[in-house]
Amino acid sequence: MKILNTIKEARGYLNEIRSKGLSIGFVPTMGALHEGHLSLIREAKKENDFVVCSIFVNPVQFNNEADLKKYPREIESDIKKLKKEKCDLLFHPSAEEMYPEPDNTKFDFGDPDKVMEGKFRPGHFNGVAVVVKKLFEIIEPARAYFGLKDYQQLVIIHKLTKDYNLPVEIVPCPIIREENGLAMSSRNEFLSESEKKQASLIYLTLKRVKIQSGFATISELKESVFRQFKKSKTMKLEYFEIVDLYSLKPLRTWTESNNIIACIAVYIGKVRLIDNIILFS
Ligand code: PAF
Repeated sequence: MKILNTIKEARGYLNEIRSKGLSIGFVPTMGALHEGHLSLIREAKKENDFVVCSIFVNPVQFNNEADLKKYPREIESDIKKLKKEKCDLLFHPSAEEMYPEPDNTKFDFGDPDKVMEGKFRPGHFNGVAVVVKKLFEIIEPARAYFGLKDYQQLVIIHKLTKDYNLPVEIVPCPIIREENGLAMSSRNEFLSESEKKQASLIYLTLKRVKIQSGFATISELKESVFRQFKKSKTMKLEYFEIVDLYSLKPLRTWTESNNIIACIAVYIGKVRLIDNIILFS
């Protein structure tokens, strides 16, 4: 696996790959790779001639300095995992390389940026869009792979590519879960064994919501989810929303949309976890 740290080197190398007529699949990550990331690499390998992974802990998408500082960084074991998956190129730039000057770009994604993650992590998606647009312009992939766990991020990135006519196909990939249902996330590393066990409540709740959707009203379901998490001593529900799959508009009745997703954010101690389940599509 080739490892490159500068934009100039990556551009030069990938220009040659493209000039040979090879298609490039891209998996952008912030490292601390787990099975979820590796499933994206595998998907990219299936559909492209050449696979690039980036590892860059993007400072401008963190709205909390402490969160940025403690974000897991495990480059040596990440490299081993990528080699095992036969990833072709790792792009691993420094913060100075990506942001020689502060980037003040302001995107306007409209309503999808105003709910859920957008509401509780102001500026987060602007920072994601800044780095993803930069990365797309450096790598120029034919396809880019994103996990459905960060569903709102996927909607925003899809909108970014549409708004700026970026010639890249966004490929959503399924959520990969631990045996107990907990969605894989780099942040799971911060959970103790007992917290991991308790965190299974998140997916159990989402599955229950899916079974009950259509039978109970949206407000009844939301109330029951809030009640359930109130009982927990260790977990704190930040939001639970039932929204349109495409506009992310929160719904009050089932008849407002045919495509509906339930999204949740929960704190276990200081660790913030998100998950979702598609209810109708
Ligand atoms: O999902 C992530 O890991 C990050 O938000 C991304 C897309 C790599 C941008 O930094």
